[in-house]
Amino acid sequence: MSGVPRPLNPSPRLLMGPGPVDVDPRVLRAMSMPMLGQFDPEFTRFMGETMAAYRQVFRTANRWTFLIDGTARAGIEAALASLIEPGDTVLVPIFGRFGHLLAEIAGRSGGRVETIEAEWGTVFEPGRAIEAMRRLRPKLVACVHGDTSTTLAQPLAEIGQACREIDAILYADATASLGGMDIRVDEWRVDVMTAGLQKCLSGPPGSAPITFNDRAETRIVRRKHIEAGIRPEGAQNGPGRRIQSNYFDLAMLMDYWSEARLNHHTEATSMLYAAHECARVVLEEGLDAVFARHARVSRGLTAGLRAMGLELFGDQRHKMPNVTGVVIPKDVDGEGVRGMMLADFGIEIGTSFGPLRGRIWRIGTMGYGASPRNVLLCLGALEASLRAKGFRAPAGAGVDAALAAFANKAAA
Ligand SMILES: Cc1ncc(COP(=O)(O)O)c(C=O)c1O
Repeated sequence: MSGVPRPLNPSPRLLMGPGPVDVDPRVLRAMSMPMLGQFDPEFTRFMGETMAAYRQVFRTANRWTFLIDGTARAGIEAALASLIEPGDTVLVPIFGRFGHLLAEIAGRSGGRVETIEAEWGTVFEPGRAIEAMRRLRPKLVACVHGDTSTTLAQPLAEIGQACREIDAILYADATASLGGMDIRVDEWRVDVMTAGLQKCLSGPPGSAPITFNDRAETRIVRRKHIEAGIRPEGAQNGPGRRIQSNYFDLAMLMDYWSEARLNHHTEATSMLYAAHECARVVLEEGLDAVFARHARVSRGLTAGLRAMGLELFGDQRHKMPNVTGVVIPKDVDGEGVRGMMLADFGIEIGTSFGPLRGRIWRIGTMGYGASPRNVLLCLGALEASLRAKGFRAPAGAGVDAALAAFANKAAA
């Protein structure tokens, strides 16, 4: 086909899947602001402000807190490629799809990957992970915090403590949970954490906030090899193996984001504007208020789903408040229900992966999308779509139960 394609004209949707979710209009506005040169003092000031803002979002004192350009897995890849030297033992506790992703990236980074697995729908009793750590003595433990595929979050504090005892670095993927759950990077002794914008931070995919402490810094800096064309005179290479990826080389990225301002890539200007505004949105509401809103919205949604006669998926003690797994009732065409919600109501909910494909739906209430209004709309649409596909929920029960939960000030 030749000729000029027609302009894109995306349909209005309510995105209530596991991400991306609807972007806060403030963030869209920020993205339309004019370009600045990457070494314009105004822009480098924005970079510094972004670092400071994400220290607050991550609730950390880590100096090294900045953005990796790319979607959330760019942050994962930067962390793992920069920390794992070929042959290092890496332990990955897997309790869902994204644990497998960490194992895959750790393996591609040259790690000798050891995995332990928990059934999807559960998380690790920390003692089990700690026993494996003591036995395998990994250099790095890579663990997902909130696995969107199963909707559960792994408690990390005890694992963090045990990592210190064996001198391992703890990397945690908080793509799904940052901005939706109270995460304590320093208190839990997480050495490196990464995230993405497109979930509880209410932004578009394409930027991955990262934070890491001085333990991680020491290991990264040992591997510092500055690109020839920008190497300052007299600069020495570190004694460690050169980081295999140039784009995700945290040692060089630190020089780019610090006062050294050694050129690396061209910072993705509009994504930095987006990330800056995402942080402002969360910090203006206040972290504790944001977490309380996610929890309240989750209570309304789960009350509604239960009242409809639906079963929630997974160990509810570890459920993330920002995404809810729902067991697809027996004999119901799960994809048919999702298709109808999208076509007739413009509402997207998610399916899942691997062993959960076709077994659960996932309903996201994240960031800008975490509101009672969205829950009520979604429950109404779900009830009608289920009825059309042969599952009779008590009429109006879901919406009524959610309204009652939202009205219950004591519980809310
Ligand atoms: C927990 C988790 N980790 C990693 C990713 C990968 O993120 P991206 O698709 O932005 O690269 C996702 C995406 O859904 C996720 O939920």
